[in-house]
Amino acid sequence: SFYREINSQRSLGIEIEKLLGVKKVFVVESGIEHSETVKNLGAQAASIFETIISEGDLIGVTGGETIYCVSESITSKVDRLDVTVIPARGSVGSQARFQANTIASRIANKLNAKLQLLPIPETVSKQAMEIFLSDSEMREAYEMLKSLDVLLFGIGRADVMLARRGINEEKSSEVLNCGAVSEAFGNYFNLKGERVYSQESVGISLDKFLSIPKIIGVAGGVEKAQAIISISTLRPDMVLVIDESAAHEIIKEV
Ligand code: F6P
Repeated sequence: SFYREINSQRSLGIEIEKLLGVKKVFVVESGIEHSETVKNLGAQAASIFETIISEGDLIGVTGGETIYCVSESITSKVDRLDVTVIPARGSVGSQARFQANTIASRIANKLNAKLQLLPIPETVSKQAMEIFLSDSEMREAYEMLKSLDVLLFGIGRADVMLARRGINEEKSSEVLNCGAVSEAFGNYFNLKGERVYSQESVGISLDKFLSIPKIIGVAGGVEKAQAIISISTLRPDMVLVIDESAAHEIIKEV
């Protein structure tokens, strides 16, 4: 196979590929602790990521603990790699190490690559956005998000992400009542992959997401099964990295 597979969960991967109709699904071992599971996901996704990137690529990355673990597992390069890393979204949450900016800079360091930061919160007012875009460097960063070659992204549960983003209770229940089960790059989707809510925010749009040539989604844990099913419907050609517990739950649900 083109990719180096770390463990032998291939048959489970093939089963999920058929169930979800997704091109390539890698399944890693689940840990007893969540921290162990995300480490395994990180190692597998890092190895795939390092295989698929090529000269000149513009690479977008999202935040979250899972993608942070991918950045941890990427091997340090001595030679300069001619790629640029950019956070695919503005910042969210309070934990600096899980923010897209931090993760992008970590990956750029490891690859000895160029870094383009997006120093702006994820949700901003219209006025703030205008000021931001009047700066030529910021404008350039924003434009770069429209032509990504690679996207490494995390997948979350809608309820968890609404809470993490501090969305008020009224709005949250409205979104959840619309059937939202997943969140990715600021968009909330139902189980069929229909977008039910999107936060006005700085980052790649759903439209652009649909045309990025190489995308790797990473998520694990039994509680994320529905979120994974939902996001998998968006791009049958994506590479998905999940864990055994999520895989078994997906089999039960689909
Ligand atoms: O906030 C960035 C983000 O990638 C979200 O789009 C996604 O839902 C979430 O993080 C996943 O976070 P975690 O890996 O911590 O579960």
